[in-house]
Amino acid sequence: MKSKLKLIDESGRRIDGRLLDELRPLRFEVGILKNADGSAYIEQGGNKIAVAVYGPREVHPRHQARPDRALLRTKYRMATFSVKDRKSPTPGRREIEISKVIREALEPALLLEKFPRTAIDVFIEVLQADGGTRCASISAAALALADAGIPMRDLVTAVAVGKVDGRIVLDLNHLEDQYGEGDMPVAMMPSLNAITLLQCDGTFTLEEFKEALELAKKGIGVIYEKQREALRSKYLDALKTYRVI
Ligand code: CDP
Repeated sequence: MKSKLKLIDESGRRIDGRLLDELRPLRFEVGILKNADGSAYIEQGGNKIAVAVYGPREVHPRHQARPDRALLRTKYRMATFSVKDRKSPTPGRREIEISKVIREALEPALLLEKFPRTAIDVFIEVLQADGGTRCASISAAALALADAGIPMRDLVTAVAVGKVDGRIVLDLNHLEDQYGEGDMPVAMMPSLNAITLLQCDGTFTLEEFKEALELAKKGIGVIYEKQREALRSKYLDALKTYRVI
């Protein structure tokens, strides 16, 4: 049940000191796992999430193979130690649903038709959760897919916006997610200005919805630059190592 916990103070600061339109501290790293074809790591506020991509590779079971395109499979999992109460190790309905939502947010960006009869597997492991893990997972998974060399129309970048104490805020943390009045995860292919995920939990007026979407776009622009920087820095390091530059 929602309580009366005050989440925004008189000076307009949020419970973690942020302004309404401020993102949490954000860090990406690309290529963290040597056994995967592609990988990435994200820290966004208290979220810590690792993503591994395998493929394109043979499909097992074979009957799942698609004759005209690659099969994209996503598995979002929260570690038992990722939240304060121990989370059950068996995947629940929430993890199954979030895996599907993440797959649908990533799929439009991938040129799956280039790899018929193969599978691309995306494994997402939430090591520490602090609200907005589906969005952080999408941003990290897009980087891991790019790192695996999967051709893409654009990266996918995501952030949750929401309504807290009647105000529209960017990048909800766990307390804001839990005690706020609304939560709206948004994912986009930023260069194409195309939305690939839009969920909405809570009640927003049309004006609030428009304001929230604009704020999400603003946040996504900032996150997108950080994703590109992380990709660039991995490949610049590699070029330096092999003395290409
Ligand atoms: O993480 P996201 O906001 O995408 O999904 P959610 O289902 O709205 O969960 C919000 C937050 O609740 C998570 O990020 C976790 O911090 C927390 N949570 C938890 O404490 N225990 C769970 N079993 C599931 C979620």
